[in-house]
Amino acid sequence: MAKLDKNFLWGGALAANQFEGGYDQGGKGLSVHDVMTAGEHGKAREITETIEDDKFYPNHDGIDFYNRYKEDIALFGEMRLKCLRTSIAWTRIFPNGDETEPNEEGLQFYDNIIDELLKYNIEPVLTLSHFEMPLHLAREYGGFRNRKVVDYFVRFAETVFNRYKDKVKYWMTFNEINNQMDTSNPIFLWTNSGVTLAEDEDPEEVLYQVAHNELIASALAVSKGKEINPDFIIGNMISHVPIYPYSCNPNDIMEAEIANRLRFFFPDVQVRGYYPGYALKMFEKNGYDIKWQEGDDEILKNGTVEYIAFSYYMSTVVKHDEVTSVEDNVVNGGLPNSVKNPYIKESQWGWAIDPVGLRYTLNVLYNRYQLPLFIVENGFGTTDEFKEDGTIDDQERIDYLREHIKASIQAVDEDGVDLMGYTPWGIIDIVSFTTGEMKKRYGLIHVDRDNEGNGTLKRTKKNSFYWFNNVIKTNGEEL
Ligand code: BG6
Repeated sequence: MAKLDKNFLWGGALAANQFEGGYDQGGKGLSVHDVMTAGEHGKAREITETIEDDKFYPNHDGIDFYNRYKEDIALFGEMRLKCLRTSIAWTRIFPNGDETEPNEEGLQFYDNIIDELLKYNIEPVLTLSHFEMPLHLAREYGGFRNRKVVDYFVRFAETVFNRYKDKVKYWMTFNEINNQMDTSNPIFLWTNSGVTLAEDEDPEEVLYQVAHNELIASALAVSKGKEINPDFIIGNMISHVPIYPYSCNPNDIMEAEIANRLRFFFPDVQVRGYYPGYALKMFEKNGYDIKWQEGDDEILKNGTVEYIAFSYYMSTVVKHDEVTSVEDNVVNGGLPNSVKNPYIKESQWGWAIDPVGLRYTLNVLYNRYQLPLFIVENGFGTTDEFKEDGTIDDQERIDYLREHIKASIQAVDEDGVDLMGYTPWGIIDIVSFTTGEMKKRYGLIHVDRDNEGNGTLKRTKKNSFYWFNNVIKTNGEEL
């Protein structure tokens, strides 16, 4: 018997801001990403006040999918993708975010994309917001600090749900809603919620207020979506970097248990429809005054998600008596008391490579929530070299993907996890989120563009393209 269901959603994952380009085309407004410069490993991206002439903003052009979508979708069809996870740039639909009428040209653009995907039998899987808040809402309203932004988000969600209701079934609300729990890097609060912190503010208290508003926005979107089309399948989307205890010392175990609340806070609310006890207790102890409106309890209860989409790239480890600084941390995704895991290696960008951690994650999430799971991001960011014959032999990437797919199949076949699909991140090379680089490549299709924005943008299939094509063809039987 085949290990995976015949409808398993093999696909690819992308985000509008990282690959579409056309940042000022089709009536699009500026988003929070359009004022982010390029950084590199160890050098954070800068968020500038406006667009400055002497700075480079890699998201402005992305890989120019905006003008090349037919060519790219044909390649996705050739790869046999069954679905494509991408996002709708909020600023194409509501350029400033607070308009009452949507921008028809933006809506038409996504009609074109969806129709083109359907032509190749590729199911669109859409994220409502993948770090794409209109800049105007961030600057003038303070992003999700402001409850009005919840209304603007819901208007945007309703508009696209109505427009695409007969063509799109799978939706998710906010990409990696929980990665902003890491307030040590300002880009997370900025890209997720359009929020910057004042020096005298307690980042945690701000974060939880912002989180509450965003959780309300997510729940309202789910309820609206189900009203518009009861057949919609709407999930949340979290980043999951499991936190292991360093040893069997009970203090390490407890340290990891508490630290993992950073991972579970958002899905606990989005799946169960109410706040977990540990969060309420923490608000009380810290004296946090989180503004709650009448009716919020009902909104959360009525807007729970139907599946959990998540990204998985790496794991991390905590040790109870260790204090390092996040900046000094060799391992990304780490916490102030993270230590290196002696059993696993890391990528050039310091991301721990841990396929067993994916099987573990699938088990933990499924056992905690008993909802279908969808791996909507997983992949290996690295540099690629052309061989003399013009091909790219990206064996390291194939090995990474193979081991993670194997682990996922084990979770289904041996552990009984309900897994909907698997969409490797950056199926075609795109701009990196954390560093803004092009050379951190995840794609199975190479794009000729460098960190400074030079290149012909030519697309070339890597060896992983052919390998993944066969994985899909055999429904994961041949890896
Ligand atoms: C996730 C994001 O954090 O990881 C993506 O949802 C991002 O937008 C991906 O691109 C990989 O991160 P990076 O920084 O390597 O591009």
